[in-house]
Amino acid sequence: MQKITIEKILKKKNKTPIVCLTAYSKAIAQIADRYCDIILVGDSLGMVLYGMKTTRKIKIETMIPHAKTVKDFARKSLVVFDMPYKTYTNKFIAYKNARKIIKLTKCDAVKLEGGKKMVGTIKHLTKKGIPVMGHIGLLPQTSTNFKVKGKNFIQKKQILEDAIAVSNSGVFAIIIECVVENLAKKITKNVSIPTIGIGASMHCDGQILVTDDMIGLSDFLPKFVKQYSNLKKVIEKCIKNYSEDVKLR
Ligand code: KIV
Repeated sequence: MQKITIEKILKKKNKTPIVCLTAYSKAIAQIADRYCDIILVGDSLGMVLYGMKTTRKIKIETMIPHAKTVKDFARKSLVVFDMPYKTYTNKFIAYKNARKIIKLTKCDAVKLEGGKKMVGTIKHLTKKGIPVMGHIGLLPQTSTNFKVKGKNFIQKKQILEDAIAVSNSGVFAIIIECVVENLAKKITKNVSIPTIGIGASMHCDGQILVTDDMIGLSDFLPKFVKQYSNLKKVIEKCIKNYSEDVKLR
């Protein structure tokens, strides 16, 4: 089993679609590792595992044990740690936190949300040897409006500029969340690094989903998610049958 490196991810642009998913536990990490290039320990963990209302509440300390486990059991894929809200408010805080994250979890890279404003921080982290994945379009940590982005000219221009600025600052890939199809296509054509879409059309170089959403374990399902199973129903049936067996002795 050959480890996926950043160089291999870069080489996939315009050649092979890049497969990415989230994982927060041993079981999902082991299975995802067989099929994915990148596994993200997303801050979505706060909502999915801990029932938080937004991704803003999760703390680095809560994510670290999950990331450590994912990294231990995902031997092949590139494992990326999603830096939580307010843990990269300036380049020095970002470096202090990213260094701690990498030291304690051995993750291969960190991800942070934001466009042009993040350029200084991304340059600082990459200069210090920490690989970074970008995230533009809909930004769950700071957004107040969870609608598709890039529907008007001004927003489209701003997101394209964000994409170019972030891609030129040293990230090895960039997540594009929830933007209109022609914008995702334009960004993918105009940047030299791979784009990974989530609700951003088939035109990206790769795709990512929150695993719990696509296997049917989440309470709230974004419109763009294709559900491959309904595990909540499967688990309910198992527990109901077990409960009946116990009662029948
Ligand atoms: O936290 C998360 O799961 C994400 C998504 C883009 C997959 O950032």
